[in-house]
Order: sequence, then C-alpha cells, then structure tokens
Amino acid sequence: MYNEIDLDKIDIHAEPPTEEPARQYYFMAKCREWVNAFAQKNGRAPTFHVTTFGCQMNARDSEKLTGILQLAGYEMTEEENADFVIFNTCTVRDNANQRVYGRLGELKGYKKKNPHMKIALCGCMMQENSVIEKIRTSYPFVDLIFGTHNIYKFAELLAASHETEGMMVDIWEDTDKIVEDLPVLRKYPFKSGINIMFGCNNFCSYCIVPYVRGRERSRNPKDILREIEKLASEGVVEIMLLGQNVNSYGKTLPAHEQISFAQLLREIEQIEGIKRIRFMTSHPKDLSEELIQVMKASKKICRHLHLPLQAGSDRILKAMNRRYTKEQYIALAKHIREEIPDIAITTDLIVGFPGETLADVEETISVVKEVRYDNAFTFIYSKRTGTPAASMPDQVPEEVVKEGFDKLLKVVQETAKKQVQRYQGQVMEALAEEVNEHDASLLTGRLSNNTLVHFAGDKSLIGKIVKVRLSECHGFYYVGEVTD
Ligand code: SAH
Ligand code: SF4
Ligand code: F3S
Repeated sequence: MYNEIDLDKIDIHAEPPTEEPARQYYFMAKCREWVNAFAQKNGRAPTFHVTTFGCQMNARDSEKLTGILQLAGYEMTEEENADFVIFNTCTVRDNANQRVYGRLGELKGYKKKNPHMKIALCGCMMQENSVIEKIRTSYPFVDLIFGTHNIYKFAELLAASHETEGMMVDIWEDTDKIVEDLPVLRKYPFKSGINIMFGCNNFCSYCIVPYVRGRERSRNPKDILREIEKLASEGVVEIMLLGQNVNSYGKTLPAHEQISFAQLLREIEQIEGIKRIRFMTSHPKDLSEELIQVMKASKKICRHLHLPLQAGSDRILKAMNRRYTKEQYIALAKHIREEIPDIAITTDLIVGFPGETLADVEETISVVKEVRYDNAFTFIYSKRTGTPAASMPDQVPEEVVKEGFDKLLKVVQETAKKQVQRYQGQVMEALAEEVNEHDASLLTGRLSNNTLVHFAGDKSLIGKIVKVRLSECHGFYYVGEVTD
C-alpha cells in the first residue's frame, strides 16, 4: 500500500489524520520537509544508522524503522557517527543491557563533536522503568526514547523530536493495536522475516519478554498472506514467520477468523514464488500433530525445527513454568524425527536457574544426548528484575554455574558436530546468501536444515537456490562446491 502513497501529495499544514496508518504517512511527509530543509542548509541529506540488539523480532522492527527513515529522505550509513542514531535494544539477559550502555558511552564522544546529532533508543529494554531512570541520570544526552508498544508511531515521534530540545520519552505500558502497511526496508532482497504474532502469554518464570512485549496477539491471516504475496512479487524466495510462540498462533483472533498455525502454513505454501518457509519459535507444549503432518507433507517448509528445551530436570522445568516434562519433550522430539527423518532440531538451554544442581544439569545433558541436537544455544541464567525467578531462593553460585555450563557446552558441541556431519558427500540445495566474510572468492549459503555451506561462486548467484556438494564438514559448517 505504501508504494502508492505519495508523500508529496500530503498536506502537512492540515491537521494530522486520526486513523492509522494515514497518520504516520502525514508525519513522514513532515519529516521529509525537515530533511529537505536540512539538505538545503548543509548541502547533503542527513544520515542515519540503526543498530539492532536481540532477536529476529527486533531485527524485523529495525527494518520498519529503516523503511520510515528512508522514505523521509534520510540516507543510511554504516557509520555509527551519523546525524540520527537509533539503538533497538534487547533485555532478555543482562549482558544485552550492558552492551547498550557501553555503546552509549561511545556515542557520547561522537555527539560532543557533532552537537546536532540525535540519539534515539527503543525496543525491549526501554519498557523497564529502572532503565529509563538510569538513562535520565547517566545518559542525559539521549534525545528520544520509546518502547515496543508504540513503535508504529515512530514517524510521529521523529517529527516531534525535530521540534523538541532535550530528552523526549514516550513509553506505553501495553497495547492491543496492530498497525498494518507501514514502510519496510529489508536487509536482504531475497529473504524476509514476517511477524505473525506479537507478545507472549507464557510467563516462563525466568523470562522478561512477556513484560516488555505485552500480551500475545495474532495478526489477521489475510494481512499476513497479503504481505507474503507482496514480498514474493518483489523477489523474496525465503520467509521466516516470527512469533515468541508460533504454535499458539490464531488463538487470540476473533472466533470467525480463527485458524491454527498449521492451517496458516498450508495457505502460505500456496503462494507462488516463495520457495522456503521457516518459522520461530516453537514452544514444545503447543506443538501439534497437525503441524508435524503439514511439515512432513510440505515441499517448502524447511527441514529445521527450533524447539527450546531450557532444562532437562523435571523439577527445574516445573519451576520454570515450561509446562512439559523431560519425558514428554523426548517423546515429542523422537516422534518428529520418526516422521521427518531429515529434520534438524535445535534448541535453547539455560544453566544456573535458581535451585539447579549439577545433578539437574546432568538431566539436561542426557536430553542433549538423546535428542541429538544439530545445534543448541546455551545461556547462563540471568536474573531479570520483576520475573518470578528473580525472587526465588537458592540463586546458584557462579562457580557451580560455570562447571555445569562448561560440561553441557562440551556435550552440545560433540553432538552437534556428529549431527552436522551426517550429510558429508551429499548434494543438497543451498540458498546463496552473501559473499563469505573471510574469503571474497566464496559465497555463503544456507541448507534447508539451516546448516551453512561455503562454496566458490559468483556474486550473481546470491538470492538463488543452488545445488551444492557438501565435500568437507568443518564442525558446524561445510565447505562444498556447486554441482550442475
Ligand atoms: N519465545 C522463545 C524464546 C525467546 S528468548 C521460546 O520460548 O522459545 C530466547 C531464549 O533466551 C530463550 O529460549 C531462553 O533460553 C533464553 N532466556 C530467556 N530468558 C533468560 C534469562 N533470564 N536468562 C538466560 N537465558 C534466558
Ligand atoms: Fe519467554 Fe517463555 Fe514467552 Fe519464550 S515462551 S518468550 S521463554 S515467556
Ligand atoms: Fe530481546 Fe526483546 Fe527479542 S528482550 S530477545 S529483543 S523480544
């Protein structure tokens, strides 16, 4: 829709419209006027830089911020020393917060040299009162702060910040609003994330996401399908459906519109031009037999399932409020492997949850051995203020956490290596994604099962699916060559 909106035709001297997204386009037009004035004065367009912390949802939100800035006339730069810098933050673990504070320190130096620089902060971390207080006192040079619930209002906030001196803070507690049809600028022309739902209702006891992202709400399936059709028409071949718990997609829709995640996948499968479908994340408690069967029958759904386990001990799983047992999880993974033998299963693991002993970590290790994960992200428990786990007794001493973590990591790496090796010598399809970071004569591609493969090839192959022989396994990735 936004392609058809001509910002020049919007009367910015009239009152702003009240309905969305028209209201935001009005403010984009206002921002463009400001950008033009800047360009006249300085002989160049203002530059912007967006830095993303955190998960795929944040990466997608950053593409939305970028789309708005670009449409307003700002020019993107790789340099953090830009006229407008925005950090889209994450607060899932404390080290994510610490990284933001560190980078803000660096920005302070840039702003001293360029006093017209504007610094904005948004994302999950900004939904915490204690963070806002800390920024007000320790980082007063920040110009604009907003959260996750009013991100669709970015154009309006940007326009207001052009007319404001000092720090502007606009945080909403929650929202049930979903605004469609705002501009987006994708990082990759050939693949894209798509939000299918927002928020989370699971309240795992260690996790801050439900507090900073609000209650679960699903997008209307028609809007999702329309967006994917548009992406396909623009040349996108791979999509990643995003939600904190995609398996419960649809539950918050009005009764007459309710469809399951598996049904949504079936409809997406019909869209011409889309060759690969991925999704994340799946909560094991909500993974249905219908979904397994849809995946099994599909030619487009990738052979990869990210199925976070978190912990293997039933006592810890209960305290985490995960609502499955070790046995149920293992049975589910086994069943999935039987139904779809070439699937890669990956997971998230936490070590050091309150009360967790080394014997509990052994339970996690035994699941890793039994399920044979193709990869696992292993995290040290991070205490998040306001979550139930933060006030649980028996926070685990650092040295015990470290011992358990090292032990688990070793098993995870050994298992993953064996799993990835399974395909040595075979020919598989890879989507060529980019020029290799370390060797410009190579391209990096991704297999359906999410494993990376590096191979000699010309840049013109980027965005295409090519057949690659997986000649050498190097632990987590392959080196291969294109076959005819
Ligand atoms: N919705 C997804 C996970 C989102 S957060 C799911 O439930 O699967 C991504 C991962 O961060 C989680 O799977 C968990 O392993 C980890 N995580 C979340 N909170 C954490 C905390 N307080 N400390 C350490 N790791 C945490
Ligand atoms: Fe956090 Fe649990 Fe929701 Fe995932 S499902 S976002 S871990 S509360
Ligand atoms: Fe982080 Fe927010 Fe994602 S806390 S993991 S960016 S939902």
